[in-house]
Amino acid sequence: MSAESPSRVDWITSNCQLLAATAAEFLETKPFDGLSIGTAIHLEPKTAALLTTLKAGGAHVIATGNLNSTQPATVEWLKARGIQAIGVATTEATAHESTIEAILAEKPDLLLDNGGDLFARVAENPYVRLKGGTEETTSGRMRLMPLRDRLNLPILVINDSPIKQFAENRHAVGQSLFESYMRFTNRATQGRRVTVFGYGACGKGTAACFRNAFATVSVVDIDPVTTLEAHLDGFATPPRDEAIVSADVIVTVTGAPHVIGAADLTLLKDGAILMNGGHFPHEIDVAAIRQSPLVEQAIRYEGESIETLRLADGRAIHILGGGHMANLAGPRPLGNTVESMDLGFTLQARCLELIAKGGVDASACVVPVPPAIDRAVAEAYLALNR
Ligand SMILES: NC(=O)c1ccc[n+]([C@@H]2O[C@H](COP(=O)([O-])OP(=O)(O)OC[C@H]3O[C@@H](n4cnc5c(N)ncnc54)[C@H](O)[C@@H]3O)[C@@H](O)[C@H]2O)c1
Repeated sequence: MSAESPSRVDWITSNCQLLAATAAEFLETKPFDGLSIGTAIHLEPKTAALLTTLKAGGAHVIATGNLNSTQPATVEWLKARGIQAIGVATTEATAHESTIEAILAEKPDLLLDNGGDLFARVAENPYVRLKGGTEETTSGRMRLMPLRDRLNLPILVINDSPIKQFAENRHAVGQSLFESYMRFTNRATQGRRVTVFGYGACGKGTAACFRNAFATVSVVDIDPVTTLEAHLDGFATPPRDEAIVSADVIVTVTGAPHVIGAADLTLLKDGAILMNGGHFPHEIDVAAIRQSPLVEQAIRYEGESIETLRLADGRAIHILGGGHMANLAGPRPLGNTVESMDLGFTLQARCLELIAKGGVDASACVVPVPPAIDRAVAEAYLALNR
């Protein structure tokens, strides 16, 4: 291959059509002229297309990632294009937190957050110049809602746009978690019993993708109304412990901590595979499971991000990606589809544009994307894809 061959980052960014159209417009309109934007969102190729779009709009972009998902090739690609990318590939919370602090030390005018790492600190240490920003995901919205009084800034939650809900969470997350299961394990799904914890938008897609792959899928959700929906969608909805006892594969996509913990080791089937799709690596309490007195031996497969725990009674339990979000963990992590992220990230770019222009005030603190932006982004996507 010649030195000039385009990279995977080039392939992905060149396929983000909506962002490319937005960047072309921003080059003319320059909505972020003179402004800096601090970002803390997975530094992987689709994000690179978003960050260069913001730069096209005149922004000085300072970028870090989320825990365990930073891809070094993307960081290098961004640096070569004048983006101040300081993200590091790490599973260490303290190393990640130091990059979050470094972003905030620059006091950016706008923030683009994913999981609330930036805005949770702003609630503790506000600074005058901050105009507001965006939060990408469910877990971040849950973290920021109780901080609204202290934040008192326009913060638009991309997750709560219907477009993000159906294009990414429902259609793309299930597909990419299923792809990740195959990529990690190379194991058949046909006839396997798969239990999905959480039947929100992400869980619905995950359950559907495994069912389409001929697995026998059950769903566990703490909300009886949602459990009824899963039942009417044709999934088995056994009580939690019963589901765990019979599952060959368990996938968590709840946004909640410690959904599966050390106490479940007595229930898990020999050979059970545990995988998380939720934002934070706390849905499966991997640390407590590793430390359980029932665990006799931990075996890590070199370069595969698969950990096998041998229990005293002879059973083996496998954990994928250390309980980190599986679609952005392990070897060759691809994340969600280009099209789903192109849509969601165009919502990001348009929301940041609105805030930069002063189009929303502090009463829009941790609220969904304005419907006018949803309509404009939907029309633009349809125009490009009809
Ligand atoms: N992997 C990805 O690419 C990706 C993309 C988008 C969102 N996410 C993350 O996925 C998670 C789920 O997102 P969502 O939009 O589906 O959320 P959601 O709020 O729509 O659904 C979560 C569901 O989990 C259920 N739940 C909560 N605690 C539970 C428990 N202990 N046991 C069983 N069910 C429980 C809730 O009742 C709810 O129905 C979040 O952490 C979100 O940030 C990941």
